[in-house]
Amino acid sequence: MERSTWWTTAVSDIEPGSIRYRGYPVEEVIDGASFASTIWLLLRGELPSPAQARLLERALVAGADHGPQAPSIAIARMAMTCGVGVNNAMASAINVLGDVHGGAGEQLMEILAGLADADDLPSAVADVRRRLRYVPGFGHRFHPRDPRRDPLVGAVTRAVADGVVAGRHLEVALEIERQLSEGRERAVPMNIDGATAIIYAELGFAPALGRGLFVLSRAVGALAHAWEESGSGARNKGPVPRDQLAAYAGPPPRHLEPRGD
Ligand SMILES: CC(C)(COP(=O)(O)OP(=O)(O)OC[C@H]1O[C@@H](n2cnc3c(N)ncnc32)[C@H](O)[C@@H]1OP(=O)(O)O)[C@@H](O)C(=O)NCCC(=O)NCCS
Repeated sequence: MERSTWWTTAVSDIEPGSIRYRGYPVEEVIDGASFASTIWLLLRGELPSPAQARLLERALVAGADHGPQAPSIAIARMAMTCGVGVNNAMASAINVLGDVHGGAGEQLMEILAGLADADDLPSAVADVRRRLRYVPGFGHRFHPRDPRRDPLVGAVTRAVADGVVAGRHLEVALEIERQLSEGRERAVPMNIDGATAIIYAELGFAPALGRGLFVLSRAVGALAHAWEESGSGARNKGPVPRDQLAAYAGPPPRHLEPRGD
């Protein structure tokens, strides 16, 4: 069969009866690679070491779900009650993974990269804090301390000790966290976006891919919730219970004369 350069890709090579991911026959990938390793292979071109794959997998597991408190999950469920398919519900969830929800990791990865070479880390971090009212990847509306922070930071810390990753991004993020909490009654600890951003940055993913990886992870929760909601029988479920009204802040009741035509 003739090859055309209309699409040129190094990701996969497909011919009748043959599928190769980055050169590996899919039959061997099916038997020889985990899903996390396959994500790495397709994105990066080579297979990760088992330790790299395990670290990536931990981050993917951590972001998979946050229940209907998370806008992404609530939107997936609401969409499902409108009669759409699971793909539409998942796309709705993914559409709201922006800079303040799920996408903050990408911004933090950019900040971490910018600070990686700083000679005087505390003062470079202080500069960032002066510039940004909210540092992406820190603080949480719901959790005083995000329960996903410690296992993820612990895993990167062990990976640094084992020589799997270098550890500079972790060091920078911990300095940001230290400064954000300094002198405060209530600390501002790292959240899921922050903790996973450290892992993605330490593993060498580009910031935009950090957001993409979070999307892959959260897609699992969006699918599970969309599917569950599809069995609830609810139809056209709104964002607040039907006996609650949205606060109204517009003009008082008024009237309009008929047009007379
Ligand atoms: C997630 C977020 C919206 C939660 O906001 P919130 O619950 O309304 O938190 P508040 O705005 O009440 O913050 C409480 C205090 O902590 C500070 N704070 C919270 N998150 C902060 C952050 N990321 N950077 C700096 N200060 C932060 C606030 O300035 C506030 O300080 P103050 O009491 O002196 O005014 C907020 O922390 C944020 O925007 N974080 C960055 C974006 C992000 O990481 N999103 C992913 C969330 S999982």
